[in-house]
Amino acid sequence: MDSNEIRKKFLDFFASRGHTVVPSSSLIPDDPSVLLTTAGMQQFKPYFIGKADPMRDFGSKNTVSVQKSFRTSDIDEVGDESHLTFFEMLGNFSFGGYFKKEAIQYGYNFITKEMGLEIEYVSVFEGDSEVPADTESEEIWKALGVKNVKRFGRADNFWGPTGSEGPCGPTTEIYVKSTGGKDIEVWNIVFNEFYCSPRSPEQGEAGNPDKTLRKLEIPGVDTGMGLERLAMVSQKVPTIFDTDLFSSVMAIIPTQNLEIKRVIADHIRGSIHLISDGVEPGNKDREYILRRILRRTIFHITNLAGEEAKIPLNERDSSTGWDERVEKILMALVSEVIKLFPDLLIRKNFIERVVNKEKGRFLDILKSNSELKKIIDKNKKSNIFIISGAQAFGLFSTMGIPIDYICDEGKKENMQVDIKGFEEEYKRHQEISRAGQEKKFGGHGLILNTGELKASNEEEVKKVTRLHTATHLLQASLRKVLGGEVKQAGSDITAERTRFDFTFPRKVTKEELQKIEDMANEVVTRDFDVIMEEMAYTDAVQKGALAFFKEKYPERVSVYSVVGKNKEVFSRELCGGPHVKHTKEIGKITITKEESSAAGVRRIRATIKP
Ligand code: ALA
Repeated sequence: MDSNEIRKKFLDFFASRGHTVVPSSSLIPDDPSVLLTTAGMQQFKPYFIGKADPMRDFGSKNTVSVQKSFRTSDIDEVGDESHLTFFEMLGNFSFGGYFKKEAIQYGYNFITKEMGLEIEYVSVFEGDSEVPADTESEEIWKALGVKNVKRFGRADNFWGPTGSEGPCGPTTEIYVKSTGGKDIEVWNIVFNEFYCSPRSPEQGEAGNPDKTLRKLEIPGVDTGMGLERLAMVSQKVPTIFDTDLFSSVMAIIPTQNLEIKRVIADHIRGSIHLISDGVEPGNKDREYILRRILRRTIFHITNLAGEEAKIPLNERDSSTGWDERVEKILMALVSEVIKLFPDLLIRKNFIERVVNKEKGRFLDILKSNSELKKIIDKNKKSNIFIISGAQAFGLFSTMGIPIDYICDEGKKENMQVDIKGFEEEYKRHQEISRAGQEKKFGGHGLILNTGELKASNEEEVKKVTRLHTATHLLQASLRKVLGGEVKQAGSDITAERTRFDFTFPRKVTKEELQKIEDMANEVVTRDFDVIMEEMAYTDAVQKGALAFFKEKYPERVSVYSVVGKNKEVFSRELCGGPHVKHTKEIGKITITKEESSAAGVRRIRATIKP
């Protein structure tokens, strides 16, 4: 069964059992607590916690999807038989429609009857001081004739949440035998009975020391089955890279080194999907993740291209034709991956451009090699023949220079690299960035965090609410003064200030800024009403409500309008709030800064008084 047939079989199976087929959401999630979409359940988080109504949006309490997912947790394992960064997750979901019995029965029937596979064993949650053992699932399995039921603890059979908080609960997992003889987990069925949030230090310890659980009103079902693994067992091949999802890509990578081949095949696929969803290589967050995997791909390809053409290592910077070879291999890979994902075809030119641009940047770094050379020279002068872990990590983290490359270059100069030190730095950095994320995404301390608005106490909530409405006034004024090409490119509001990014090709002049500020303040002085209405997304767009292009909106949306005494609409935006009721509450708005934020994007900051 090829992978297209598997996807279709899965969707059809659940569609014919009352599930609404929902398209994959973007790899860039709406959920601000995670950088990338890591699971099928992510787009459904509001339905699990009763914040959105599945009947209204899907006409059913049950849904099914094939979700593009990206996980960095296994990035260092890629190269072996089964680890990936990008993968597709088959999942069925229920928000109060059904629970354990049906979910397990569906899983059993799909695996054994539709796929014709044999279940080797299943696992259920063994229980701990906080959550009891899942004997109910165990009995359901046994009644179906699956005798081999294992019990595992938190690490294996308790899922979630994605990000710092969200739905979570005990799981039951299905294992089948692979051609190689290993038992592999193919399907994870999660019973979302709880809402998991960060535990405050006063709450002490329990089963899961840094999380606190509260029972969800309606228990839900969230399942995930990796398409690649299912294809592997179904196609009876020894690794995921031998399935039809990879074989054509693997075939055109010019090397016998299996590990490198797999890294390239995984990373190019991941890069292409990230780019297609709008991520571009950069130095932080998801942009950095893309840069890392793309540069690693390019790095390996530069070596392969060099080997193929028998260009010695130390002549690759000067030899003509090297860049072209690298590009040729890269573009062939892009085409091959896109053949497997025809939906990406319309973005092909864009993807090629982004990949090529990054290739150019990275080859320049490799060619000039100046930072690495500087370090080598400096060490030599001090008679040090080791590139320290911190030095290597600095090159890696700021320029994406792969550690293998640093080692190669070092060797030429008789310099060793302190790999252990590098790894320690790497680990430390991961911990720092994890801690940073928690802080940024409201682990402890933030009582309001919409991604855009952040406040840590009631006072601050009031302030960011006023700044939020001020931001709407500023956006409307920007568009009225500078023209409709101004589009929101991001915003960030704290109790101190609002920061607003928008597309515009040049610096905004002092006079223009003054005009914009005056216009917004005029609306404050005239005390317009701020009105919220719920309507269909299509109606909102028709009414001219501004939407943020990066967001994916549900069918029904809330729209905030700033309206004058004669019903004139000054601003109208799709928005989740909160806002003040009358613009007078905002106070005086002052634009404090205007600067460039990225190519074609300007950034302003503004404060309010009193
Ligand atoms: N959300 C669960 C997972 O990702 C199904 O494994």
